[in-house]
Amino acid sequence: MWRIAALGTGLATRDRIEIDRCSMEANMFLRNAWYVVAWAEEITPELQQVTVLGERICIFRNSTEEIIALEDACPHRKLPLSKGRKKGDTVECGYHGLTFDCAGKCVWAPGQGRIPSNANVHAYPVFQKYGLAWIWMGNPALADTNEIFDIPNYDDPAWGINRGAAMELQCNYLLMCDNLLDPTHVAWVHAGSFGQAATKDAPLRITKTHDGVIVHRWMLNVEPAPFYKKVIGFSGNCDRLQHYEVRYPSHALIRAIFTPAGTGGPDGALHDDVFIMDSYNFMTPMTESETRYYWFQLRNIRPGDEALSRLMSDDVQHAFEEDRAVLNEVQKGMTNKTTPHIDLPIDGGQLRFRRQLQAMINEENEVDRQMAD
Ligand SMILES: [Fe+2]
Repeated sequence: MWRIAALGTGLATRDRIEIDRCSMEANMFLRNAWYVVAWAEEITPELQQVTVLGERICIFRNSTEEIIALEDACPHRKLPLSKGRKKGDTVECGYHGLTFDCAGKCVWAPGQGRIPSNANVHAYPVFQKYGLAWIWMGNPALADTNEIFDIPNYDDPAWGINRGAAMELQCNYLLMCDNLLDPTHVAWVHAGSFGQAATKDAPLRITKTHDGVIVHRWMLNVEPAPFYKKVIGFSGNCDRLQHYEVRYPSHALIRAIFTPAGTGGPDGALHDDVFIMDSYNFMTPMTESETRYYWFQLRNIRPGDEALSRLMSDDVQHAFEEDRAVLNEVQKGMTNKTTPHIDLPIDGGQLRFRRQLQAMINEENEVDRQMAD
């Protein structure tokens, strides 16, 4: 289900509009990237307003179930189109009836049938994958669905899945990216689920990759943390991997491996009873201080076990609520600080990620400036 506005016709004009939108002020977000805009089932034929990167977007399904995402502001007096009404596969503004097709082109305006040539709204490319709707926030000509986060085991029947509703965080999305490059916080924030003694101080290894940062560590011959004790298929101590990886702009894979003690480590053969949980986390900035957080987990055991899926969703959601409570307060603390904050050696992965992401944002802004000249 793939649509891309303005490709083929009027690209030069569309590019110009794109540049004009970008050149008004430097962007604080990476725009040429895919973000999750919603769970696919959240999008219906009804007009809905969503906010991504500070932009209000009118989103709906057309008569062939395609997901349509239009700039949510009539070019006349900026009434949100989501306050108007659907007429077939067009959207009619609720103020003076300007009507837009699914590519954002105005097809009717009052006044002797004359439609101003600039009476269009931006149409965002949207693509459905993994049960999620992904939106491209930058120049449509650069949208490539092959760049959507790759999840190799998603359709593998040997892997079970559990998922839950998106969460809204009252904090900047980078605080959640920090959190997902920080294996140590589980010892304090998730002491009853993901944390245990070794998670406090075992050394971290940081790797910068071509598309993000990985922070990981093996903890050998340790007691499984409480959440994992409930789901792994062996008893006794384990070797445990925490692999925390965030890719630009704000998408994370958290891989947990639990294997009987003596079979793990960097060169371990792993045991037949190994438990692997891949946790996928997609952060979508709504504004500078609000984030929508989408997540699900894949596991290598008992794929059809619905009770296990429910247990995992409930426990993970509970843990993520613990993150939300901390991060919302961290946002307040950092916003209102009266003394400088400090960094620790454990922050190395987060700092590298932020530095590279900012360099990518700066580069986009520089290109926009050059094209606007
Ligand atoms: Fe956490």
